Parts: sequence; C-alpha cells; structure tokens
Amino acid sequence: MKMFDVYPLYDINIVRAEGSYVWDDKGTKYLDMYGGHAVISIGHTHPHYVEMVTNQLKNIGFYSNSVIIAQQKELAEKLGRLSGKSDYQLFLCNSGAEANENALKLASFFNGKKKVIAMKGSFHGRTSLAVAATDNPNIVAPVNQTDNVIFVPLNDEQALEEAFLANKGEISSVILEGIQGVGGIREASRSFLWKIRSLCDQHDAVYIADSVQCGCARSGQYYSHDWAGVSADIYSMAKGIGNGFPMGAISISPRIAPKYGMLGTTFGGNHLACAAAIAVADVIEQENLIDNAKKMGDYLIAELRKLPNIKEVRGRGLMIGIELFEDAAPLRKKLIYDEHIFVGSSGNKNVFRLLPALNITQAHADQLLTSLRKLLTV
Ligand SMILES: Cc1ncc(COP(=O)(O)O)c(C=O)c1O
Repeated sequence: MKMFDVYPLYDINIVRAEGSYVWDDKGTKYLDMYGGHAVISIGHTHPHYVEMVTNQLKNIGFYSNSVIIAQQKELAEKLGRLSGKSDYQLFLCNSGAEANENALKLASFFNGKKKVIAMKGSFHGRTSLAVAATDNPNIVAPVNQTDNVIFVPLNDEQALEEAFLANKGEISSVILEGIQGVGGIREASRSFLWKIRSLCDQHDAVYIADSVQCGCARSGQYYSHDWAGVSADIYSMAKGIGNGFPMGAISISPRIAPKYGMLGTTFGGNHLACAAAIAVADVIEQENLIDNAKKMGDYLIAELRKLPNIKEVRGRGLMIGIELFEDAAPLRKKLIYDEHIFVGSSGNKNVFRLLPALNITQAHADQLLTSLRKLLTV
C-alpha cells in the first residue's frame, strides 16, 4: 500500500531532534523556526517532557473516560493558572479541528441557535463545521456546505453588527483566531474583539477564541485574544499544548454548564496525552516561556523590519509573518536547502511564517536573521 498523496513534500527525512534543531538521515542539521506548524512549544525532546512521557508509559498509557484520570485534574489546574482562567472548565480531545467542532457544538447546545459568524481569511480545521467556518472553498466538500456560516471581514465592526442584525436571534457563536495563521498573520484588533464581546452579550451568543495556533503562550500571553482585555466564552487549543503529542482542548466559561453525554471522546485526555501536556505546562511556567516568547518576538520583529526587500513584518510574540513583494516559495526553498532553516508558508503565497519553539534564544534568532539578510540583499 502507498500513502494517499495529499502533501507536497520536501525531500528531507528528519530522524532526530533536540531543542530548536532537527537532523536528517544524512546528518545535516537544520534550525527549526517553524516548529512543525506551531506544534513544538517547549523545544524538541525537552528532557522534562521525555521523562514525563516515558514514565507515564511505563505505568499506564491509556484508559477510557469512564474512570478517574487524575492527570486531567492536574492539567486543568495548571492550564487554569497559566491562562489566568482558573474558574474555566476543561474538555480534552485530540486535535484543533476537533476542539473547534466541540466549541461550536457546545455553543449551539448552550443557546439553542444554529448560525455561526466566522472571519474572511479564517482557518479552523478540516472536519464538518470547522471546515464550513474556514474561508477556503477548496477544502469544503459538498457535504460540508451549509448556510449556517456567515463570513465577515476581519476587524470590520460594521459588517459584524450588520450580520447580527440580519440574522436577529439566530447567531449562536462568533469564532475567530486572535492572530490568523494560515490567513497570513493578521491580528484581530482590540476594538473588534471588544465589539464581539459586547454583541455576543447583547444577542446571547458565544464568543469562541480559536487559540489552536496563536494560543498556548505563543503571542507572549497565554491566549492572544486576551491582549484585548476581554475574555472569550470558549478558547480552543491544540498544537503547542502537547509539543507534538496529539491533543486538543477547549477551556469553557463557568457560565456554560456541562451535562452528561453533551460532549465525549474515546482518546481525549488519556493518561499519556495528559502527561505530555502537563510537562509542557510545567516547562512554560518554570522556564518563563511566556516572557521569552514576548522578548524574542519583539527582538525578531524589530530586526526583521530592518532587512531589505520586505513589504511588511506582522505578528506578535513568536507568531510572525513576513510578507515579500513576490512569491516567498523560492526564498523558503533556499532557506531550507542552502541555509538549513525551516520556516512555514501561508495561504498568501507572498507571506512566510515563523512559529518557532517558545524557548528560542537570541543565537537562534540571529542565525535566521543572518541567512535572511544574505538572501534578501540583491
Ligand atoms: C487556527 C487553527 N485552527 C484549527 C486548526 C486545525 O487544527 P488540526 O490540524 O489539529 O485539526 C489549525 C491548524 O492549522 C489552525 O491553525
């Protein structure tokens, strides 16, 4: 059997990793400024992570959600503290799409309504409602198409207000990324997030903060939406929460009450996944990675803005988009094959993304800056 061919691949076979470096099967060392799609939050093979996951596996890797899994409570406490939302409730699943699917479904259970407002340029995953709320018709199959999702331009307060008025009493939730990732690193403005909060309160709708890519401390704050100073009702997470171990989660406001059977999963919140996520939370806290993400992000953004032939540098913390005047693919190829540095693409072909581990040092940042300066100077 061969693989179902859905990914265009670089001809590189990664076999080992440590911190912000990975090695291929020929021994070539690469700087990882992409973290495998924003997944590597505390660095590859962090010793505390390896120890926690290994020890857990020796005891028990999995049992179902029909018994107490003490690690879930420990994780909930740690994430509550890190995010400053100890009064919220945690539901665990396995991926970002699943987290958003659960968030949208929970909102609809909560207020009994059907319609969702999403943003132009959004990406929320590839499952049924998550993909319907994703602004990319190429990945929406006919079976996923629905009239229940309304798209408005990001940061357009008037369009948002009009969508609520045109669908009076029908809006169940508003979902948006604090910083659009696939959409090319576009940040929701403070006043737009305030508007969402007030319209959701006014119309009994649920504000869902998709923090799958921009969350888990990446922006220099646990949830990037919270830079605005208003809280969402549900935060969805995945990627960095498990540092490579598949996990998704939603953090739910105390105003939404649970009911048996409302949500569920076989694998979500298993012993092994929780051990991985607890290790990540420990390292974020003990190594002050929220502060490091902010500090290194500020440094990188300031230095990138000094480089030639860049149209715009956008982002916050270690979620950075660099827009060129031309297609960024040739530059990315040179970075990988000549400079041995991984960076990421985006939905906008002129934009490439930096989503490194949150514990990168200035030496890592400078290595990237030196290579970029060389490649961008013509
Ligand atoms: C903002 C956002 N939401 C949801 C998802 C979907 O996550 P997953 O691929 O884990 O299903 C992604 C993935 O890139 C994402 O960037």
